[in-house]
Amino acid sequence: MAAFNKILSSVLLAIAYSSIASAFQERSVVDDLKHSTHRVRHISRDLKLEVFHPESTYETFGTGIEHTLDARAPRDLNSTALSFIQSRLGVDASSVGFKSGYTDGGEKFAYVKQYHDGIPFINAVANVAWKDDKVVSFGASFVKPNSIAGSRPTVAASSVISKVEAAFDGKYNGRPTGLEYLAQADGSVALVHTIQVQNLDVNSWYEVYVDAHTGEVLSATDYVADASYTVLPINKKILTEGQETLTNPQDTLASPSGWHAWGTTTTTTTSGNNVLAYRSTTTSLTSQSATGLVFNYPYTASGAPSTTANINSARTNAFYVINTIHDFAYRYGFTETAFNFQTDNFGRGGAANDRVQVSVQDSSGTNNANFATPPDGQSGICRMYIWTQTTPNRDGSLENDILVHEMTHGITNRMTGGGTGRCLQTTEAGGLGEGWSDALADWTQHKSATVRDFVLGDYVTNNPAGIRTRPYSTSTTTNPLRYSNVSGLTSVHRIGEIWANILHNVYASLVAQHGWSATARTNPAGTEGNIVFLHLFLDALRLQPCNPTFVTARAAWIQADANRYSGANRCLLWRAFASRGLGLNASGFVDNTAIPSDC
Ligand SMILES: *[C@@H]1O[C@H](CO)[C@@H](O)[C@H](O)[C@H]1NC(C)=O
Ligand SMILES: *[C@@H]1O[C@H](CO)[C@@H](O)[C@H](O)[C@H]1NC(C)=O
Ligand SMILES: *[C@@H]1O[C@H](CO)[C@@H](O)[C@H](O)[C@H]1NC(C)=O
Ligand SMILES: [Zn+2]
Repeated sequence: MAAFNKILSSVLLAIAYSSIASAFQERSVVDDLKHSTHRVRHISRDLKLEVFHPESTYETFGTGIEHTLDARAPRDLNSTALSFIQSRLGVDASSVGFKSGYTDGGEKFAYVKQYHDGIPFINAVANVAWKDDKVVSFGASFVKPNSIAGSRPTVAASSVISKVEAAFDGKYNGRPTGLEYLAQADGSVALVHTIQVQNLDVNSWYEVYVDAHTGEVLSATDYVADASYTVLPINKKILTEGQETLTNPQDTLASPSGWHAWGTTTTTTTSGNNVLAYRSTTTSLTSQSATGLVFNYPYTASGAPSTTANINSARTNAFYVINTIHDFAYRYGFTETAFNFQTDNFGRGGAANDRVQVSVQDSSGTNNANFATPPDGQSGICRMYIWTQTTPNRDGSLENDILVHEMTHGITNRMTGGGTGRCLQTTEAGGLGEGWSDALADWTQHKSATVRDFVLGDYVTNNPAGIRTRPYSTSTTTNPLRYSNVSGLTSVHRIGEIWANILHNVYASLVAQHGWSATARTNPAGTEGNIVFLHLFLDALRLQPCNPTFVTARAAWIQADANRYSGANRCLLWRAFASRGLGLNASGFVDNTAIPSDC
C-alpha cells in the first residue's frame, strides 16, 4: 500500500521525470497487435473470454541510473521502489503500493501495484530492478482510466461462486476471495471479486474475476502453464496426414508432474519422468524452441532425416507418442504397481528409475525398430531407425504406428508375468507379442465407429501395403488368416499377424455392439466398444500365464471380461475368436469354430 504522506509525494512529483507519458496513453488496440495485450481463452463451449492486460512499457539502463533519493540515507527496498515509480510515472503515493521484493547479491527486485481508493489493481503493475544501488530496469503497465468503478462491492462474492463453478467446470477451492480492480480494454476499470476454481480431473485451475457490481464474469487467470508440441497426433499415423501443434497433451492423472519433471528436477528438453528421447547419446536431446515448453519443430519431408530441424522433429514426436501411450495405458492399468516405466513412481509402488529411453535415428540398424524390456526398475530401451527405401530416407519416429508398436512391447512384456520381462520368450508368445503391438497401433488409429482395414509401416516403406503380408480386416477376402495358419510358421511377426487380425475382429465386434468413443484415451469409464477392448487388452495381460499361447491368451480375455464386466461380452468374444478358428476346442493349431452352448 501507499507508503508516503502528501508532503513526500509532492516532493517526488516535483522531481518527476518527463519521459513517462507512454505508460499512460490511451491504447487503441489494433487487431494485429493484440498478441501483446490480449488472449482469447475458450473456457467452455458457452464461455469465451478475451483477457486483457494493459501494455507494459519497459526501459533498461545498462550500468544503471541514479535514483535521486537513493543517494540519501539507506532506505527500505519498498520505500525506494515506491518513490522511484511515483517519480518516474508522475503519480501520487495513493496510486502505488508495494507487493513484493528481494535482494540477491548486489541486485534488488521490487514489484509494485497500481492502487485506487486503497484497492490494488490486478493487471496494472510495475517492477524495478537495481544493480549496485543503481536502477537498471523499469517496467510498468499502469493505466489512466477513463472511468473507475466504486470501491464498495454491491454484489457479494459468496453469491456468485456457484455460477463461477458452473462456468469454469471446476470447484471453488476455498482460498479466500479477494477484492481488486481490473483494468479493461475499453479504458474503464471494474471492481472484481477474485475466486479460484480448480478441476483436478482435467488439470484446470483458474482465478476468475467477477464484477463486484454486476456479477458478470469479466476475466480470468489461467494458472496452468501450457506446453506445446508440433507432432503427429496419436490418432494420425503417417506424416502425410499432417503434423499439428498440440497444447498440453499430457494427462496429469497419469503424469502428475507433467512430462518434463521428476522429483525436484524440471527440464525444458525431451527428458521427463516417463521418457527420454535422444539421438546418439542420452545427453543429445531436443530443447524447447521457445520458453514455456514449446517444441515447435515441423518436419521437412523434402529434407534428409539428418537435418537438425528434422532430428528435433523426430525426438519431439517420439517423446510425445511414448508419453501419450504412457498416459492412456496408465488409465487402463499400466500403473506403477503394474510395473510401468517411470523415473519417479510418486510412492505408488513398483520399481522406479526406469523411464523409457527412446533413441531416434539409432545408428545400430535401418528399416526397423526394436524395444528391449528388462525387469521393472531398469529402463526400457526403444531404438528407432531410418528407413532407406526412399530418397530422401524416411524416419520411423515420424510414423506413429511404429512407435506405438514398439512401446506396446514394453507394456506386454512388463504386464505378463509380473514385471520380469521374461514371459514372452517362446515363439508363440513372441508372436502374440508382435500381434498385440500391431493391434494397439491399430486401436490408436480409429477415428470413428467405422472399422477400417489397418496397414502398418506404409509411410516409411512408401508402400501402401506396408510391412505385413495383409491388411488387418474383418473381410476374410482381404485377410483370410486363421488360427491354423500359425502351423509351420517360425517368424514371430508372421505369427503376430494372425493374432493381430483376430484382435482386429474382436475390436470390430465390440464396437459394433457398444459403439465408439472419441475420448477413450482419457475416459476409461465409458461403455463404448473401443474402451471395452482396451480394458480387456490390458486386463488379460496381467491375468495370462507366463509364455501364453493363442489358446491361453484367449482364455485370459474371456476371464478379463468375467472380472470387469461380469461376462457381459463372453459370447461376443467367443464368436469373434471362433470366427478365426480360435473357438472352444481349438488347440495344436487346429481350427475350431465351436462356441459355448449357452451362447
Ligand atoms: C517496507 O519494509 C519494511 C521492512 O520490511 C516494513 O517495516 C515496512 O512496513 C514496509 N513498507 C511498506 C510500505 O510495505
Ligand atoms: C491358412 O490355412 C489354411 C488351412 O487352414 C490354408 O488353406 C491357407 O492357405 C493358409 N493361408 C496362409 C496364408 O498360409
Ligand atoms: C469340445 O471339448 C469339450 C471338452 O472341453 C468336449 O466335451 C467336446 O466334445 C468338444 N467338442 C468338439 C466339437 O470337439
Ligand atoms: Zn515388434
